[in-house]
Parts: sequence; structure tokens; C-alpha cells
Amino acid sequence: KINPVLLCGGAGTRLWPLSRKSYPKQFVELIGDESLFQASARRLTGAGFTAPSVVTAADFRFVVLEQLAALEIAPADILIEPAAKNTAAAICAAALALDARAPGELILVAPSDHVIPDADQFRATVAAAVPAALDGQLVTFGIRPDRAETGYGWLALSAAPTADFAPTPQPLQGFVEKPDLATAQTLLSGGMHLWNAGIFLFTTTTILAAFAQHAPDVLAATRAAFDGAEADLAFTRLAPDAWADCPEISIDYAVMEQAKNLTVVPYGGAWSDLGDWQAVWREGKADDDGVVTSGPATSIDCKNTLLHATSGAQQLVGIGLEGLVAISMPDAVLIAHKDRAQDVKQAVVKLKAAA
Ligand code: GDD
Ligand code: MG
Repeated sequence: KINPVLLCGGAGTRLWPLSRKSYPKQFVELIGDESLFQASARRLTGAGFTAPSVVTAADFRFVVLEQLAALEIAPADILIEPAAKNTAAAICAAALALDARAPGELILVAPSDHVIPDADQFRATVAAAVPAALDGQLVTFGIRPDRAETGYGWLALSAAPTADFAPTPQPLQGFVEKPDLATAQTLLSGGMHLWNAGIFLFTTTTILAAFAQHAPDVLAATRAAFDGAEADLAFTRLAPDAWADCPEISIDYAVMEQAKNLTVVPYGGAWSDLGDWQAVWREGKADDDGVVTSGPATSIDCKNTLLHATSGAQQLVGIGLEGLVAISMPDAVLIAHKDRAQDVKQAVVKLKAAA
């Protein structure tokens, strides 16, 4: 069986003002009537999967419980991080916790902020990855790139994907995390790279050996924090002092860029990391002019624009706008050029400094 681990400790600041420190984007109903976290959890239930584990911050522990309960999912474990240390530490802690109760079993690490509409196709792709993972590989999932995205990891293939983009595992030649634009353009035009979906399958044995080899400091701090952890209701609280010593680094830089035992399985279904407002616009149902509206929002002669009003927000009306995102909430309004969507995180830094 595969043990899903849901990562949901990210702050999601590029989706301010919808995403807040106390209630980040993965818990908000952004597209459809469940949160991205709930959709991620539901995608990983059913035959072949155990109950999920969750790694999150103390602030989000009750949201996690509530949102899982609404789906009638009882988590196997909720690990509480004393501070956000990025994905390497979160994944290492989850691997240690699982290895303690089910040594050597398969873990599927999944972010909680992705849109993957076809859950069946996704599960079939994960199933295709199982033999390689049992064989000691760190398995990644590859998405066909359609732009020179600098916010993703890129996977170097050893053979071009099949025309039908079948989920056939192949050895990975290399892993390039968040390249600069010129590099991303080269990787895109070369046709021999896929985007890293940020979803990984491996056994606890394989990933713990990879941490021992490539990131021993992360492993040591995380192990101490896990050994000193306290059980608290449904939660496992990692020990704060040991955790504080852990380097803050993502799994991509800490392990994936270094490892040699990498495999990629192409995923041909729709996939999106809802990272910023441009991505929300891209994923939304646009009219003929490329306008996406949501909530009490009205467009008159706008083009390629997102008008997003949350429930309870003031009426949002756009007239003759082009290439903008406008977000209306009861206590905050954001208006930005669509191609500056990544810079919203700067607003959060600035507001925090002013507060
Ligand atoms: N528990 C926990 N603790 N979760 C975290 C933490 C943390 O400290 N930091 C991030 N996460 C969660 C986020 O909530 C998200 O669900 C997931 O881990 C990935 O983190 P991101 O910060 O969104 O990573 P990214 O999007 O920049 O890059 C990763 O994903 C891309 C695809 O979406 C990389 O794996 C890229 O290579 C990949 O292309
Ligand atoms: Mg992301």
C-alpha cells in the first residue's frame, strides 16, 4: 500500500489577499466547492492507499482536522512543525514517522496546492511508478511544459516521451530546480525536459538513505526533533529545540538535484500549481475575451483579466481593463498587472514591515 503524505505548511503569500498567514491558500475554496487541500486528500484515497499523514504548522492543525473530517477522512498522523523549514525537513520528518510504524513502506509526497482534475488518471500514473519505487528509485512525475517557467523544477529525460505521453518510467538524467529564464527557454526548446510536478514516490528506506547521503544535517536535526516529539490529541508535535537547528531548504535542492537514483514517470493529465493570481486566471473559465470573473464581479469590455470577488466582498466592476488581476475581499483589495503576479509576495513583506 502507498502512504500519502500531504504537505501543507506553505504560506502561499503570492495569493494575498485571499491567502493569509492564518489561513493560507490551500485551505481556501479557490476553484470549485472544496479547498485545494481537500481535493488533494481526496485524490489520494481509495484502493491502494492508506490513510494520509499531514505535515503542517501548529496554526493550521484544526483547519486540517476539520477539512478532513468534512470528507470523512481520518488521518493516520498529523505532524506539527514548530517552524516552517521548507520541504526537505517536512518530508524527512514524515519519512521518519512512517518508518517508525511501517518500516520500508512506500510514501507518496504530495503538495496540497495543486489542481489535478483527473484523479483516476493521476492514481493510475502513481500505480505505474510503484515498481521503480520498490526498486530503490526516487520517483518524480513529469508534466509536459508549455512555457519557460522559472518557478518550477525541470527534469532531464533520457528518452523523448511517447507520443501519447504514456506513464512509462524512465531513468532521469538530471534535475534542475528553478532555472533562470534563459536556461528555462533552452530547456523548453530542446524538448527533452519535463516540469517536476513536485510529487514524489519512494520507500522510507530509499529517502532516508538519500537524506543520509545528501543532507545529513537535515536528517540529524529532524531525527532529534522526531525522537523528542510529543503526542498531543491527534497530533505529533516535533521538538522545537532540535527542529530549530534544521537547515531551511527544499527537497529539490537538498536531495533531488544531488541524487543519482532518480526515475521520472510522465503525467499526461491536466496539472497546475496554483501559485499566483496569473495561474488562477489561467485555470479559470474564461469568456471569449479571456476574462475570468468570480463572486460578485462584473466585466464590461475587459480583456485577459481576472476579476475575483470573494463572498461578502464589495461588488467588483471592471470597465475596459486589459491584462490585470483585481481581487476584492471585505478587508483588502489587490489590483496588479497580470505579469507582475509573482511580485504580490513583496506586498506581503511590505505590509508586515508596516504593521
Ligand atoms: N509542511 C510544510 N512545511 N509544507 C511546506 C513547507 C514547510 O515548511 N514549505 C512548503 N510546503 C508545502 C507547500 O504548501 C506546497 O504544498 C509544497 O510544500 C511545495 O512547496 P512550494 O513552496 O509551493 O514549492 P514550489 O512550488 O516553489 O516548488 C516545488 O513545486 C513545483 C511544482 O509545483 C518544487 O518541487 C518544484 O521543483 C516543482 O516544479
Ligand atoms: Mg508550489
